[in-house]
Amino acid sequence: MLFTDVIRTKRDGGELSEEQIQYFVDGLADESLPIEQVAALAMAICLNSMTFEEAARLTMGMAASGTVLDWSDAGLDGPVVDKHSTGGVGDKVSFLLAPIVAACGCYVPMISGRGLGHTGGTTDKAEAIPGYNTAPDFETFRNVVKSVGCAIIGQTADLAPADRRLYAIRDVTATIESIPLITASILSKKIAAGLDALVMDVKVGSGAFMSSHERAVRLSQSIIATAAKANLRTTVVITDMNEVLGTTAGNAVEIAESVAYLRNDYRDSRLDEVVMQLCAQMLLVTGTEDDIERAIARCEKAITSGQAAERFDEMVAALGGPRGFVTNSSKYLATAPVTRAVHTSGFLAEVNVRAVGNAIIELGGGRHQVGEKLDLSVGFTDVASIGTLLDNETPLAIIHAASEDTAAEAERLLLGACTVQEEAPETGRVIHEKLSG
Ligand code: URA
Repeated sequence: MLFTDVIRTKRDGGELSEEQIQYFVDGLADESLPIEQVAALAMAICLNSMTFEEAARLTMGMAASGTVLDWSDAGLDGPVVDKHSTGGVGDKVSFLLAPIVAACGCYVPMISGRGLGHTGGTTDKAEAIPGYNTAPDFETFRNVVKSVGCAIIGQTADLAPADRRLYAIRDVTATIESIPLITASILSKKIAAGLDALVMDVKVGSGAFMSSHERAVRLSQSIIATAAKANLRTTVVITDMNEVLGTTAGNAVEIAESVAYLRNDYRDSRLDEVVMQLCAQMLLVTGTEDDIERAIARCEKAITSGQAAERFDEMVAALGGPRGFVTNSSKYLATAPVTRAVHTSGFLAEVNVRAVGNAIIELGGGRHQVGEKLDLSVGFTDVASIGTLLDNETPLAIIHAASEDTAAEAERLLLGACTVQEEAPETGRVIHEKLSG
């Protein structure tokens, strides 16, 4: 088969055949297709989309491109469930949710992604914990899930390898914002992970790949319909990404905020609402609880009792990180040499969150190119939420940078990304909608 014919078909708005999609998947998995051809087809899909049938075939093909996990013989006494987000800035939900849900009796084998476009990646953030192995062999992964209840790892070479390659190429070719490509990317990994059920966090807003509510609903419907084809029970929650989630954005700084949350020292209210809603939906979709209020109360108890923090600690140690990390995290997390508070005056009214994510890339905390190494210490802390009155005392954020020059550039980008005004703005909801199949 000539791959140029495959690209041409999609470029001209045609439908790809089953054979063409399988050829694409095989060429991704064994890396026989060159980057430029993959990028060209990804762009054609981005521009001309795919039918539901094409997207479902791409999903199933990528799911089957490597190992497919099976938990049925692992002797687990609870359901296997995961959460996946379509990506945002400051989204550290996975580090909170996995141990909370594990403490509530579920098993969470979480295979996360690296940064994509302007969004941060859970795998990159996990690597801010010294020694933490995001690429263990399957036996270790399985044993950690079994003994701790959760394990957050990165996409291994043998799990949905076709998506792994496509994901890395989409990241640097402006081909992310495609409903069929996002659907296939997420679900291929989740189907390969052998889950009983999935909760999706579809982000909407200026920092999300879906900037309008209408597109977020379309993506949610695409995910629910495709997951149903693979017998994967799925609930989608559409959540707000018109501002950074929580008070930090970066890698090590987000781990620090996650630890503060799990220790119940500081829980940002918007972050808390998202975490509680997603955790509760995981308990509901698996039948662990049948009432949302009871599910939320159970998750709350997992935090206040210290059980979730304990699970996180055990997971870190089991995956090679320091023992007792939760009590001593500041000793282990890298800090940037330069810090700079950004001040302006007025009420913070609007944030271009994509521009904030791009500022993190400029600081060295995200990638310009496939495989680029990150500076995990950089980012923003003390990020103000919309509605905050900013002045000389209350900063917009504190920049953590490798040099004065990059800090100055990040300050310029951050100020350019934010709108302030004299009157207090209305603040929006963080949970928009829940959909299920
Ligand atoms: N997360 C993924 O795993 N893939 C996407 O395409 C977007 C978000």
